[in-house]
Amino acid sequence: MITQQDMDKMIRGWIQEAAEAIKQSFSTELIIAEKSDRNDLVTNMDKATEIFFIEKIRHYFPEDRILGEEGNGDSIEDLAGRVWIIDPIDGTLNFVKQQADFAIMIGFYQDGVGKMGYIYDVMADEFYWGIKGEGAFLNGERLPKVKDISLREGLIALSSGMIGSSKYSSREMVIASSGVRMLGSAGVETARVVMGRMAAYITHRLQPWDIAAGKVIAEEVGLMYTQLNGEPIDLLTKSATLVATPSAHQEIVTIYLKNQK
Ligand code: 2AM
Ligand code: CA
Repeated sequence: MITQQDMDKMIRGWIQEAAEAIKQSFSTELIIAEKSDRNDLVTNMDKATEIFFIEKIRHYFPEDRILGEEGNGDSIEDLAGRVWIIDPIDGTLNFVKQQADFAIMIGFYQDGVGKMGYIYDVMADEFYWGIKGEGAFLNGERLPKVKDISLREGLIALSSGMIGSSKYSSREMVIASSGVRMLGSAGVETARVVMGRMAAYITHRLQPWDIAAGKVIAEEVGLMYTQLNGEPIDLLTKSATLVATPSAHQEIVTIYLKNQK
């Protein structure tokens, strides 16, 4: 019987091993392809990393189902039972253009409830994880609950699409905050909010694998992670999302909904 504690250790080991391979890949030529548009990229390393995790999971947990960004897992239409949600490289555009500010992310869910979440900011060597009910950690140190700062007191991070369109009231959100920062990786930006360095991370569209790991970690430090309209996250579809302190969350949802009428 593999306990949750054993699983946690195994997952962290796999992620460390994958991160080493990703760092090694900088000395070889990447094979890059476009997916939905010219800013939505996939490389040979995204694919190889996803396959590496899937082989590990299939070996140790053959009954479990896997949702992977690059499509090497199962086709998932519900969240019943044990489901792994994998983003092998979050922030692929950063990986390709900057060789920094990208993350490996794995979420483990049971009957739709997030049990374990892992975000590894590879180049910063910052490894965040959360275990439901047991807390969140950075490189092994327990993280404190975040201070409930208001929007006015905090920086916010936005996805590019939030400012590329007037639909999301981002201008009003930025003005109400103490400033905007944009990093281009859901994992790295969620980690900033988890650390209390920002009040919120707001996006026009995230996919389940961009959300799954961060949601577990964020909730363990007292943050709220919902759709931008305040409704619960649906991990079977993409949505406009918001992770924020309780106060900033309420203010941002209010600004968003006020302008939707
Ligand atoms: P990805 O690199 O794993 O695709 C960039 O603002 C953030 O949004 C990244 O975390 C990126 O994750 C995510 N994202 C989700 N859908 C995307 C898309 N269609 N194109 C680019 N980035 C996307
Ligand atoms: Ca990805």
